[in-house]
Amino acid sequence: MKRLIPFLAAILLLSACNHHIVTSPDGDIRVNVFDYHYDDYSQFCGWALNIKVDNHQFLQVRNLCLDVAESREAYHLDTILRSPEVDTTWHLPWGERKEVREHYKEMLLRTHGVTSGDSLDIRIRVFDNGVAFRYEYRLSDTTGRLLRGDNTRYLFPSDGTCWSIPANFESYEFAYREQPISQTADANTPFTFRLKNGIYGAIHEANLRDMPEMTLVRDTAGYHGNTDSDKQAKTCFKTWLAPSADSAIQYAYHIESRQLVTSWRTISIGRKAVDLINNDMILCLNEPCALPHPEQYRPMKYVGVWWGMHLGINSWVPDSRHGATTANAIRYIDFATANNIDAVLFEGWNQGWEQWGGTQVFDFTHAAPDFDIDSVLAYAKSKGVEVIIHHETGGNIPNYETQMEEAYAWCSDHGVHAVKTGYAGGFPNREIHHSRYGVQHYARAMQTAAQYGLALDVHEPIKPTGLRRTYPNLMSGEGARGMEWNAWSDGNAPSHQVTLPFTRLLAGPMDYTPGIFDITYKCLGKYPDSKQWNQKDARECRVHTTLAKQVSLWVLLYSPLVMAADLIENYEGHPMFQFFRDFNPDYDWSEALQGEPGQFVVIARRTNSTYYLAAATNEEARDITVPLTFLSREGRRKHFTATLYADSPDADYRSNPTSYSITQQEVTSRTNLKLHLAPGGGCAVIFRPVEDK
Ligand code: NOJ
Ligand code: CA
Repeated sequence: MKRLIPFLAAILLLSACNHHIVTSPDGDIRVNVFDYHYDDYSQFCGWALNIKVDNHQFLQVRNLCLDVAESREAYHLDTILRSPEVDTTWHLPWGERKEVREHYKEMLLRTHGVTSGDSLDIRIRVFDNGVAFRYEYRLSDTTGRLLRGDNTRYLFPSDGTCWSIPANFESYEFAYREQPISQTADANTPFTFRLKNGIYGAIHEANLRDMPEMTLVRDTAGYHGNTDSDKQAKTCFKTWLAPSADSAIQYAYHIESRQLVTSWRTISIGRKAVDLINNDMILCLNEPCALPHPEQYRPMKYVGVWWGMHLGINSWVPDSRHGATTANAIRYIDFATANNIDAVLFEGWNQGWEQWGGTQVFDFTHAAPDFDIDSVLAYAKSKGVEVIIHHETGGNIPNYETQMEEAYAWCSDHGVHAVKTGYAGGFPNREIHHSRYGVQHYARAMQTAAQYGLALDVHEPIKPTGLRRTYPNLMSGEGARGMEWNAWSDGNAPSHQVTLPFTRLLAGPMDYTPGIFDITYKCLGKYPDSKQWNQKDARECRVHTTLAKQVSLWVLLYSPLVMAADLIENYEGHPMFQFFRDFNPDYDWSEALQGEPGQFVVIARRTNSTYYLAAATNEEARDITVPLTFLSREGRRKHFTATLYADSPDADYRSNPTSYSITQQEVTSRTNLKLHLAPGGGCAVIFRPVEDK
């Protein structure tokens, strides 16, 4: 009998379950929102989402609830509200696509805490390509609350494959892992997966502003729910928030205001892997543009005094190897002028680099003694070249925030319109990069920069969550292992760049800094004084790529600020550099056409009447056929001259990385373009319209 009582209780409670269905506008994604009071696993929370895609079981989200205050209380349902279907189209000043359709159905669950009287609303939106929900918590008094955590759990109905980096609150600069979902201990988001039934998904968050970031951690307790789907569930992840330093309780912070609206927790859904890339749900879950003149933030191609430091040829400090000298700056500006390049970045231009890795006290308004900033800026201006000013903070946020307003005003006064920031180093005061403190700082920098008309390219950032829609001055960022790792470590595997579009780039643009033509660093022979400054001597390193793949990355790894990262001497007179001269990253339209995470990817884009196509592969050679049907999607023109920047048949990233070919052919939208990608290779194509024949 003892055993029978909980069993009977479970039956009774389950039969009392409320089920409320909300579907995607096209009806193919069905979310069953249900009340789940009897839960012998969590015991404190009652709402769940069961997501089905095309009638296949997809994912279950359980324990929809925040963990607030001292006691875990029950939340009772007051009402369920359904909003009319939203279907609208809006525009971005720059992006992969300038026109975005926002189309979803919404359901709102209004609940209240039985003891606290606080209210907890759970807002759920279902798009044709994903599901999102967020918590809106309102306090019933003014005493504040402690956010101890987020109880949300993600339950996978079957095993599958996933692509992720480990959960880490200080950095995203890790190699990606492709592994079974069930073997994944923890992960940062975007967390991309393919279930056994072939459906793809990616868990991330949108509009992250005032709270710590979320990561996923395997629920080690296992899951012992009581429905059939619980029993079949292979893996359960719980949400793990970055902790604040100011709290004695881990994973918590104090809610001072009367309400807490969380980020949207997003689950993008695709029948094909590339559907995840062609998905604007994260942008749709952010607020419309808040800036008065978004058109001032323009995509730019840039070069910079940068790679020399990573190879150890140059230094950031003003010694005999100093990179940012006045003479070097002029050389880079001249190169930009001659090569149709919009901007030049100077790292090491300012004072304070001697303390990098120490007290981290950079000065953001005073130049190094051998860098005549006024004449450099005047010269750039006379040539119509923008200067991207570098602000490495070393992670010393208090030092940066003391100077931030003045530094941004200085930029604005000096005609500078873009800043590359960096946070390479631990934060002081026990705070960590991805905590609420970090999130709030990155938002403050973005908002302050906007007041001074400055675009930002944030290195060591908080992961993007679509804020660029609201603040289009937040143009690019790093937030993954970029090119720099190839200069001073074992480097990035050839699969890395064909994993990024399906993972990190789902969140937003990435400043990967591609385009290294001197793949094995032959140039080091000319610089006997170069020095190791990080993990490994550059002489033992290389880029694991072919040359044509470097060209393809300018298109594949979307960034409106796109760098040709090599030393300019490696581009001088190089035929493959013509692609960078010619292409215009101010895209109107983009679509990922083919690909699988970690294997290969093919993406098409359009700027005005010119189309681009790029493809890249991992270490496997690949022959692919790309139907060019996209060429007929806009306008009348159907004949194009295609210029292909490709791997030669004998190219191989290991043994023959620089073997390339540049060829031309006439194509139409009916052409099936055949491309050969070498091991570790790639290809980039420009399609210029010719008159209709
Ligand atoms: C790390 C950044 O990712 C890199 O681009 C920069 O050169 C260094 N920090 C120095 O600021
Ligand atoms: Ca970095």
